[in-house]
Amino acid sequence: MEKFVVKGGACLEGTVSISGAKNAAVAILPAAIVSDGPCVLQNVPKIGDVEIITRIMTQIGVKVSFAADNTLEIDSSAIETHVVPQDLSRHMRASYYFLGALLSKFNKSVVSLPGGCNLGARPIDQHLKAFSALGCDVSVEYGMIKVACRNGLRGTHVFFDTVSVGATINSILAAVKAEGRTVLENVAKEPHIVDLANFLNSMGADIRGAGTDVIKINGVSYLRGTTYTIIPDQIEAGTYMAAAAATGGDVVITNVIPKHLESISSRLKRIGAEVIEYDESVRVRRSGPVISTNIRTMPHPGFPTDMQPQFAVLLSLSDGTSIITESIWDNRFKYVDELRRMGVRISVTDKVAVVEGIRKINGARVKATDLRAGAALIIAGLVAEGETTVEDIYHIDRGYEDIATKLGNLGADIKRVDIE
Ligand code: EPZ
Repeated sequence: MEKFVVKGGACLEGTVSISGAKNAAVAILPAAIVSDGPCVLQNVPKIGDVEIITRIMTQIGVKVSFAADNTLEIDSSAIETHVVPQDLSRHMRASYYFLGALLSKFNKSVVSLPGGCNLGARPIDQHLKAFSALGCDVSVEYGMIKVACRNGLRGTHVFFDTVSVGATINSILAAVKAEGRTVLENVAKEPHIVDLANFLNSMGADIRGAGTDVIKINGVSYLRGTTYTIIPDQIEAGTYMAAAAATGGDVVITNVIPKHLESISSRLKRIGAEVIEYDESVRVRRSGPVISTNIRTMPHPGFPTDMQPQFAVLLSLSDGTSIITESIWDNRFKYVDELRRMGVRISVTDKVAVVEGIRKINGARVKATDLRAGAALIIAGLVAEGETTVEDIYHIDRGYEDIATKLGNLGADIKRVDIE
């Protein structure tokens, strides 16, 4: 077991390079199983969630090899089973992408009900609705989701009742080789949806409209192997942008797609930071006070829920009161109790948090309650007076590659230490 020890006070300065996108990688790796040839993926982040996905792949007979330069080779020609063992899959959300991927491969799949960050109820009814529409029988028994399609997957029309990243991805995976045309309406538009479609299209799939509300898929019978580079991580980039602004620093964040960061950049500008966009990098600096503002999380291209905790810390440093409305998850303010230990004044009623600007945060011993909460606590530690200890950092390791090294290179005093 390890923890981070952060000594506050440093203004972050320098350059940080962003890794490949977690939420793209955890979809694209299972998607590689659907390929009829070997795949090479570049810019794969070395993070806990990718490690679990690769272990699941190995368990079911996929050959996976990770090179030092973040390149992953995947050969699924010897895949043995449509059943994903429960031990690993129940610990992470994205394991349910094996449902769609194995369905495409074998016309059946069995995966446990998923785990992942506890953000309130996380139903999967929209995934199951799409599988049923594609002609599958769906059941949930003893914590396992079983999907089987006796007569083969057939193209269909699905209108999602709610905009869901996971259901959109699972439906694309299941429909990519289905017979005929599938139309998915009211889909998610996140950059990782587009990345998944681009990856599958590079193998010969026929997927159009990713990034809009309607995706049309003409099923193909064969997908060739491919070499593909995963997009940079929007939320990792946003986290370093928030950290730069919080510490009153000056940081160039490289290997990003600035278009993916627009909703984050515009909020940072509103709170008084300067954001300068280049072709593949952004520079964030702040010298004036933090200005209070209101934030409402929304599906892409709105302000991402995965940046909400980091901005709560930033707004705590402001000159006034800010309101954060969480519109995606029922329970994404659990980290507030931990921030309160550091003197932060945030009150929460249902899905609304009122953040009082206090300008000064104190170091404390805190626990990461989930991935982004952990990132927010580190940012709080960077601006706090004194020392902050962040425990349960396995949550942070699930989604941030080398966070202590990257922050250390920017001048932060952060160390990963063993817990006795
Ligand atoms: C993805 O989760 C991300 N995870 C989350 O990132 C992110 O917070 C979320 O999208 C929203 O952007 C991955 O990509 C692995 P959803 P996902 O299905 O796919 C409801 C992080 O920090 N819903 O878009 O699970 C659901 O309850 C993580 O990196 C249904 O009602 O999210 C929620 O209110 C945390 N029925 C809303 O839709 C369904 O069948 C959005 O969920 C599915 C979802």
